[in-house]
Amino acid sequence: MFSLQNKIALVTGAGSGIGAAIAETFARAGAFVFVTDRDEKSGGETAGRIKTQKGQAEFLALDVTNEENCQRVAQAVFDSQGRMDVLVNNAGIGHVGTMLQTSGADLDRLYAVNVRGVFNVTKAFLPDMLKRKSGNIINLASIGGVVGVRDRVAYCTTKFAVAGLTKSMALDHAQHGIRVNCICPGRVETPFVAARLKEYPDPEQARREMSTTQAVGRMGRPEEIAAAALYLASDESAFVTGTEFIIDGGFSAGK
Ligand SMILES: NC(=O)c1ccc[n+]([C@@H]2O[C@H](COP(=O)([O-])OP(=O)(O)OC[C@H]3O[C@@H](n4cnc5c(N)ncnc54)[C@H](OP(=O)(O)O)[C@@H]3O)[C@@H](O)[C@H]2O)c1
Repeated sequence: MFSLQNKIALVTGAGSGIGAAIAETFARAGAFVFVTDRDEKSGGETAGRIKTQKGQAEFLALDVTNEENCQRVAQAVFDSQGRMDVLVNNAGIGHVGTMLQTSGADLDRLYAVNVRGVFNVTKAFLPDMLKRKSGNIINLASIGGVVGVRDRVAYCTTKFAVAGLTKSMALDHAQHGIRVNCICPGRVETPFVAARLKEYPDPEQARREMSTTQAVGRMGRPEEIAAAALYLASDESAFVTGTEFIIDGGFSAGK
């Protein structure tokens, strides 16, 4: 088990799915976790579960599309704990559609959360990391940020952007003691996928197809993604930066 003892972490979109699993896994590994989400109810519940299990957590409301909110949350974190060690940019939204089924507004909505959100939160914490010459940033991209996925024009566009931001930042800041990586999951059983399935005419058939496009024949579990985040957050991955950590049940291995 990798240890995050004495580390301060923050996870965006931690009220649900992968973000909640990452927050809970980090707390079990000994980190103090700032659980953030735009949804106060679900985010508060994640923080509550952590505290019930004797972990250390605090909920802060954070809409990643709101720059001012990001700056305020960063200040609250510095006031409370003095620094940020591990930032997990997890909040993200999806959309099903080919080019002609995707409006400009759909693309803007996804861009605002998936790309600009990562940008806003990272900007709020980076100056402190630079000052301390230490920091670890983990972005949730997607296998749709590594290969094309049918019916996901807007989503893949934004997730390829997250991978690009990750790699550029890794190069810029390796010399400053800051590591930047992204995780690229295949389909993972969360409310996010449940919402996408509802966008298909036959959700059950779509579920079967989504499961079988992965070589292992099933979707991933949030805990399986959280395990990768734990490795990247730990000091054992000190030599890892700028990587796209693919966890996709073989989705992208070939036909
Ligand atoms: N599940 C998958 O198959 C899969 C695969 C590859 C990559 N990913 C990526 O993994 C990340 C987490 O996905 P998930 O499946 O765990 O999704 P999820 O269950 O929908 O959870 C995402 C969380 O982010 C929150 N959120 C959305 N917009 C936000 C905003 N503007 N500011 C702050 N929080 C916001 C959501 O709140 P609301 O409930 O209010 O929207 C929700 O609590 C996303 O970046 C996603 O693209 C997921």
